[in-house]
Amino acid sequence: MPEEQQDLMSKIVSLCKRRGFIFPGSEIYGGMANSWDYGPLGAEMKNNVKQAWLKRFVHERPDMLLIDAALIMNPKVWEVSGHVKNFTDPLVDCKTCHERFRADAIPPEHAAACGGELTGARQFNLMFKTFVGPVEDAAHAAYFRPETAQAMFVDFKNVLQSARKRLPFGIAQIGKAFRNEITPGNFIFRTREFEQMEIEYFIRAETWEQKFEMWKEEMLRWIEHCGIARDTVQLKEVEAGERAHYSKRTIDFEYPFPFGVSELYGLAYRTDFDLKNHAQASGVDLSYTDPDTKEQFVPHVIEPTWGVDRTILAALCAAYHEEEAPTAEDGKTETRVVLKLPKWLAPIKVAVLPLSKKEELAKVAYPLYETLIKQFVCEYDETQSIGKRYRRQDEIGTPYCVTVDFESLEDNAVTIRDRDTMKQERVKIADAGEWLTQKFN
Ligand code: GAP
Repeated sequence: MPEEQQDLMSKIVSLCKRRGFIFPGSEIYGGMANSWDYGPLGAEMKNNVKQAWLKRFVHERPDMLLIDAALIMNPKVWEVSGHVKNFTDPLVDCKTCHERFRADAIPPEHAAACGGELTGARQFNLMFKTFVGPVEDAAHAAYFRPETAQAMFVDFKNVLQSARKRLPFGIAQIGKAFRNEITPGNFIFRTREFEQMEIEYFIRAETWEQKFEMWKEEMLRWIEHCGIARDTVQLKEVEAGERAHYSKRTIDFEYPFPFGVSELYGLAYRTDFDLKNHAQASGVDLSYTDPDTKEQFVPHVIEPTWGVDRTILAALCAAYHEEEAPTAEDGKTETRVVLKLPKWLAPIKVAVLPLSKKEELAKVAYPLYETLIKQFVCEYDETQSIGKRYRRQDEIGTPYCVTVDFESLEDNAVTIRDRDTMKQERVKIADAGEWLTQKFN
C-alpha cells in the first residue's frame, strides 16, 4: 500500500476507535483476530445505512417484500445451493513459516520476509460448521449461512402464497453472514462475520438483461446517496472462470479503498439455478403461475447485493477530509479533520453545546436538547473549550452544532454552525427545531 494511503487507512482506523465508531473485538482479552465491534457511533451509522436501504429498496417500491430468516438453516439448503461443494477458496501452506494463504492472494511481503516453499493448493470450504443440539456428530452438523440469499429461495413459495405478488418482484433481507475467510483483513473490509443487504429479484427469463441494467443503475444511485462519487467506482465484468458457480453474469462495483481497488458490491444474474435446484431436491413446486395467461414457469433471478460493513468503510473513506480552518487567533489556521458524511448517514445529527458549564446556560441549553432529541439523534456536550468541541463534532461528522451563549439569555436565540461551511447563523430558540428539520429534508 502506498505510504499516503496507508496513512489514510491508519487515520481512519484510529479515528474510529478514539471516537467510538469501531473497536477491536474482545479487546480486554487481547482481541480476536479480525473481529470488530461497532461502538455507539458506528452502531448508529450502521443502523442509518440499513434504514436508508430499507426505505429506498423495500418501502418505496411496490415490488418488494422483506423477510428475516433463520441464520442456521437445514444443511440440505447448502448442499443443494452448491455451497458445500463449491464455496471454497484454494488454500496453500508455507512449508517454512507455516502461514496459510489463499493461493490467489499471496501477499508480496511473504516472498520478501520468508520466501519458503508453498504446498500445492487444496480447496478449503468457507462455511462455518456447527452442531445443532447436544450431540456432535455428522447427523447434527449444520452451517452458519454464508450469504443471506438462500432464504429468499427456500421461502419463495410461502412468500408468494401469502403476499400474492406478480412478477417481477423482489424479496429482500438484511442480516449477518459468516465465512471462514482464509485471509481476512483491511479493517472491516474482509471479516469472518459481516452483514449483507440482499435482494433476489424474480423475473421472466427473457427480461434479464433489462432488469440487470435497471439494478446496475439503482446500485450506482445508492452509491452516490452514500456520499461516494459515482466516478470513483469502477464496474468490473467478472470473467466466466471467476464467477460464483450459480452466476451467468456478474459485475463487481469496485471502490478505490486505501489498500487498493476492491469489491464494494456485486450484481449477479443467478438464472433459475437456485429455485430449480431447490424444487428438484425438496419435491416442492417452486414455479410461478401467471394470473392472466395461467402460464407456469420457474422465475429467473437478478441479485443485487450490498455489504453493510463495506458501505461503512467506503463512506468513511469518501467522507474523510483534512483541511485548514481559521482558529480563534487572528490570521492563524489549523488542520481540522472533518467527516463530510451525507447528513442522513451521520451518526449524530445535532450537537447542543452551551458555551461554558455555567448553570444559567445549562438552564437554556438542556431543555433545548431535551426538545431536539425527540426529533434528531443529538449529543449534549459542555466539556472543554468550544473550539475543541467543534473539532470533535467535525471529526464525527455532526452536520449541525447548536451553541447557547450568554446572548441567548437576552435574545432567546442560538448560533447554529454548519459542519461543511463552518458558517454560523443566529436562530430563535423557538424556531430551532423547524430550522433543523428543513435542513435535513
Ligand atoms: N449472495 C451473493 C453473495 O453473497 P458476495 O459477492 O460473495 O455475493 C456480497 O457477497 C457482498 O457481501 C460483497 O459485495 C461484500 O460487500 C460483502 N462481503 C462479502 N464477503 C465479505 C467479508 N468477508 N467481509 C465483509 N463483507 C463481505
